Amino acid sequence: MMYPPPESQSLKTLLPETPILLMGSGPVPVPQEVATASSIVISHLGETMKKIVARVQLMAQYVFQTKTTKIFGISGPSSAGMEMAIGSLLWPGRKVLVLNLGTFSARFAEMARGVGAEVKEILPQGLAPIYIEQVREAFEKDSFDVLTIVQGETSCGVKNIHLKEIVELAKSHGVLTIVDAVCTLSTMPLPMDEWGIDIVFVGGQKGLSAVPGISLIAISENTFQFISNRTQAMPHWCLDPRRAFKFWGLGEYHYTAPVTGILALHEGLRLICEEGLEARFERHLKCSSALQNSLEAMGFSLFTPAEFRLNSVVAINNLSNVNTKELISLLIKECHVEISGAFGLDIIRVGQMGEQSRFENIERVIRALAFGYGKFGHKLDLESGLKVLNISRDSGKK
Ligand SMILES: Cc1ncc(COP(=O)(O)O)c(C=O)c1O
Repeated sequence: MMYPPPESQSLKTLLPETPILLMGSGPVPVPQEVATASSIVISHLGETMKKIVARVQLMAQYVFQTKTTKIFGISGPSSAGMEMAIGSLLWPGRKVLVLNLGTFSARFAEMARGVGAEVKEILPQGLAPIYIEQVREAFEKDSFDVLTIVQGETSCGVKNIHLKEIVELAKSHGVLTIVDAVCTLSTMPLPMDEWGIDIVFVGGQKGLSAVPGISLIAISENTFQFISNRTQAMPHWCLDPRRAFKFWGLGEYHYTAPVTGILALHEGLRLICEEGLEARFERHLKCSSALQNSLEAMGFSLFTPAEFRLNSVVAINNLSNVNTKELISLLIKECHVEISGAFGLDIIRVGQMGEQSRFENIERVIRALAFGYGKFGHKLDLESGLKVLNISRDSGKK
């Protein structure tokens, strides 16, 4: 006897009637072009796909600001990009220095231990980025093969402001660098070649405003050569850059490529190229600053000091006696806006990545926050928040 199928239920009945505006730490709203592209399935091999892959790589070179030809899409989350980088450069007997600011940068250490590497971590002094002096001290005491660093630690809203100098220092010690640009790529400068970074990875669902479940990795030519020469077996088959090159370099079969994700990435990258990186950085800075100033005008305080505050994900101190889980559910239900809570900290987080950085979206968020906190008895000054937002919205307009 066969088990019977479950009762049929259409997706429509499961999705919210009114779409939710995604203003948390990702995924982010996608432009129509990305949505359309991600509904198309074509063959993952053949001439059409080869042309699309070549365009994705060309546009990604611009977004990563690199000339490397070793840019691969990965069927998996940003963490799969991290895993490809770690699995390629580390194995038993090798040593990594992990600059650990929180949840995501700590993941590097977990993965490195998983492949049998020796791990040393530098922690921040309180709520702070990792300072160059801390890294210099670590290099004086010890030698390393690899250094890992996150550009923006989404979990606490801290930006590693010394990233460029830290990479330079690592290079002068012959140490390879892996940069997590998951929440920052295309929202703020990260010129891979100019700064001499060996590997950078990103997910589709944040600054690129594409879809979750696909990521991109850029590996410098020298580092790819180093990986190609390694004699130790690779820990992962899917996440082996040499095998990925078969598809991304030669147009041959590695595994069945994530077709819809690649098409979505194509559109996300195309829109970035059309906007131009300088204009995009400026839009993100303008929108995130406007959000931050409006929040402060309303009566909120921001969690991260301005000196090293990450603009892509803004961390806001929660107000007294508010259960953030209940607040988030309320905003979804009543305002159709989603924001994020945090990993153990009493903060809420609002994203400013890709399509989130639009004034109409910021306005919806601050209105939702005023409404939501109002229900918990906090009277926020929405009028002042909107005034500040509008001044910023109108600035620069002819
Ligand atoms: C900085 C950073 N790194 C890594 C990740 C992991 O990304 P994913 O969930 O796509 O694996 C995230 C996710 O939010 C992130 O913000």
